[in-house]
Amino acid sequence: MFSSPLSRLLPAIRLYLLGLRVLLVQLFSRPLKLPVMPRQDGMVAIVTGGGRGIGYEVVRHMARLGAHVIIGGRDEQEGLAAVRRIREQYKEAKVEFKTLDLASVRSVRQFAQSFKQRDLPLNILVNNAGVMLVPEGRTEDGYEHHFGVNYLGHFLLTWLLLDTLKDSGKSGHISRVVNVSSSAHGVGEININDLNSCQSYSAHAAYCQSKLAQLLFSSHLHQEMQRGGFPVSSCAADPGMVDTALYRHLWTPLRLAQCVIARLLFRTPAEGAATVLLAALSPASEGNCGGGYWADGHREMTTPPTFDPQLQLSLWEVSLQFLGLQ
Ligand SMILES: NC(=O)c1ccc[n+]([C@@H]2O[C@H](COP(=O)([O-])OP(=O)(O)OC[C@H]3O[C@@H](n4cnc5c(N)ncnc54)[C@H](OP(=O)(O)O)[C@@H]3O)[C@@H](O)[C@H]2O)c1
Repeated sequence: MFSSPLSRLLPAIRLYLLGLRVLLVQLFSRPLKLPVMPRQDGMVAIVTGGGRGIGYEVVRHMARLGAHVIIGGRDEQEGLAAVRRIREQYKEAKVEFKTLDLASVRSVRQFAQSFKQRDLPLNILVNNAGVMLVPEGRTEDGYEHHFGVNYLGHFLLTWLLLDTLKDSGKSGHISRVVNVSSSAHGVGEININDLNSCQSYSAHAAYCQSKLAQLLFSSHLHQEMQRGGFPVSSCAADPGMVDTALYRHLWTPLRLAQCVIARLLFRTPAEGAATVLLAALSPASEGNCGGGYWADGHREMTTPPTFDPQLQLSLWEVSLQFLGLQ
């Protein structure tokens, strides 16, 4: 995937320049406010990584609107604390925590299986959990960490829940898959034949690659659902630069600078959640208007590789192969 020292440095430079651009846009745009959303009584949603950060705000808002929300997360203490806080705020909230480690195929399978055993519908799946700039490492099943958690774990989860999503969608109320991606996908590169190697590891390239992979998957899934006439849509959402724990693996001097800048220029988790919630709940993205890439509170065009049907298909097929799926 990555070879020379230069190919390690370039992705970092590209990502930081992109970050600067995003911050400038955020500086000159108005704070994102979520419009009034329809009630979600009777709807069931799963939000991965909903114990904190953007995911927590997505869960809180959905629960406030009456949805039954299941947080899928690794840290039980954090997840249960999130549930408690939401219930304290909204007495009637139907929110619960279930263990899900996206770095483990076994855990993803267990989570999906135990959800399906409950015979609940699934109207919204928000693939939100993520890691960024983590030190070189592999998941339980041997995948590079960003690739395994941000992309492949969510690919598997979605695949395993797809029947339930299809069965739960109706015309006028299609089921939705929202993949929380990032503008970092724009500087991501994917080499299908070298997806999972860690030679001369670049955490920056690995993060960007995983976010591009999420977008390619999201777009391909949407088209598959449309072609098959299934009442499911899939889109990607970019929350912007948001002040969360995602940045904790930054190089220490950068981390210190980021802490100061974040207070002034980053979005709050609630503002970051707004775009994700619009993609998940907005009546405007029903029917033919589903899919696509959401950023800054509306649907946007994005970079050309995202629309490459051959790349989408190849990634889809390789992912099935990796996971031993048909
Ligand atoms: N913050 C930003 O500026 C920004 C910008 C663009 C996109 N995003 C995207 O937004 C999403 C949410 O990030 P955030 O900013 O809210 O960061 P965050 O506060 O660090 O939240 C990430 C969540 O993912 C969970 N997670 C990590 N690894 C996991 C695993 N193996 N299995 C299950 N859950 C796991 C974390 O829980 P544990 O670590 O406890 O497991 C945490 O709940 C990510 O996909 C991120 O890429 C964020």
